[in-house]
Amino acid sequence: MAKLTVSDLDVRGKRVFMRVDYNVPMEEKDGQMVINDATRIKETLPTLRLLIDKGAKIILAAHLGRPKGKRESSMSLRPVAAQLSELIGRRVDFIDDCIGEKVEQAVAALESGDILLLENVRFYNEEEANDPVFAEKLAKLADIYVNDAFGAAHRAHASTEGIARAISKRGGKAAAGLLMERELKYLGEELNNPARPFVVILGGAKVSDKIKVIDTLLDKAETILIGGAMAYTFKLAQGLKVGKSLVEPDMVDVAKAALEKAKKRNVQFLIPTDNIVATPVKTDKLNKKGKPVIDLTNPRTNSDPNIPDMEEGVDIGPATAKKYAEVIKSAKTVLWNGPMGIFEDPRFSEGTITVARAVVEATQNNGAKTIIGGGDSVKALNKAKLGDKVTFMSTGGGASLEFLEGAVLPGVAALSEK
Ligand code: 3PG
Repeated sequence: MAKLTVSDLDVRGKRVFMRVDYNVPMEEKDGQMVINDATRIKETLPTLRLLIDKGAKIILAAHLGRPKGKRESSMSLRPVAAQLSELIGRRVDFIDDCIGEKVEQAVAALESGDILLLENVRFYNEEEANDPVFAEKLAKLADIYVNDAFGAAHRAHASTEGIARAISKRGGKAAAGLLMERELKYLGEELNNPARPFVVILGGAKVSDKIKVIDTLLDKAETILIGGAMAYTFKLAQGLKVGKSLVEPDMVDVAKAALEKAKKRNVQFLIPTDNIVATPVKTDKLNKKGKPVIDLTNPRTNSDPNIPDMEEGVDIGPATAKKYAEVIKSAKTVLWNGPMGIFEDPRFSEGTITVARAVVEATQNNGAKTIIGGGDSVKALNKAKLGDKVTFMSTGGGASLEFLEGAVLPGVAALSEK
């Protein structure tokens, strides 16, 4: 059954507790925490504007980082309040706690259209423990619950799950926000019944991270294109050599099973036939984890599917990129999750950029619905300034992946039915 959404609600004069995913990348600059990418904040503006127009009193709650139940000043949401205020063009109050008397007083003082952002809910251990008493304390602040935090919906935490149950139990409504609704539409409905051909592009480091998604999508797609370090484990499964590339030897049998399933189901399952390779050289510098920094030297194209013994695969090669681009351009539905190589390094970004351009071309010239499943592929598209040229980019990381695997997300399951 479909979930209730914020558009279905009468919120005039009501206290609406809106869970958002403001877990945004930040860094310290001159002693201040600065937001590097405000996409997750921007994406909640439609729901906020709707609630303001409808006259709700808005209480925003979110987590930031993983403070493990302790107050960490670097993980305070205070800078987010300032950024949100700038983006929405009105005052956003901030309070340095998320439960208790002080918070209750601030909520009681809210007028219709006001916005109050609470401090990081993960400053309490009870949040991640989904503690029912803590969830009740949050629920006490509001009449209605709205969840716009798709990115955190795979977590059964007090502010994503417990509070929705608590509010529903006392007869209140728990609804999806507009961003949540869009995420569920594009990553769910659209991909359950895709226009064909349906082409899936999967990259990233590990087969173990993506195997469930691969398995689910083998039942739906015509073609699966594999890139990223995960491709080297598939090469091993095909009996090819991978040199010093990143691999998961214990996933080779799983990769073999996926290749078998693809064959049986007649799914075109492509693995790079050429690669950009580099020679890894240990330096005497240490990284943050105290491990030696490895320089990737002498980058070149390796046109053989086998990778030489002393080389590491770092990107798909030009022939593979060309082939993948052709397949993508003829698709009517595209799902992309994970880069094709170490795209953060300009020497190894060409494969990912070629794929990004092909996805945009499929959207613009072939009328394809192109859906980007969050994480690094979103970063790559934004880096290539192509983010606004695809149909949909998810704000989720782990949540997108779990949803694409077909998992029920606790934050969604807890919402009221229409
Ligand atoms: C994310 O960034 O993917 C979400 O905000 C969830 O964060 P978490 O993995 O710390 O729960």
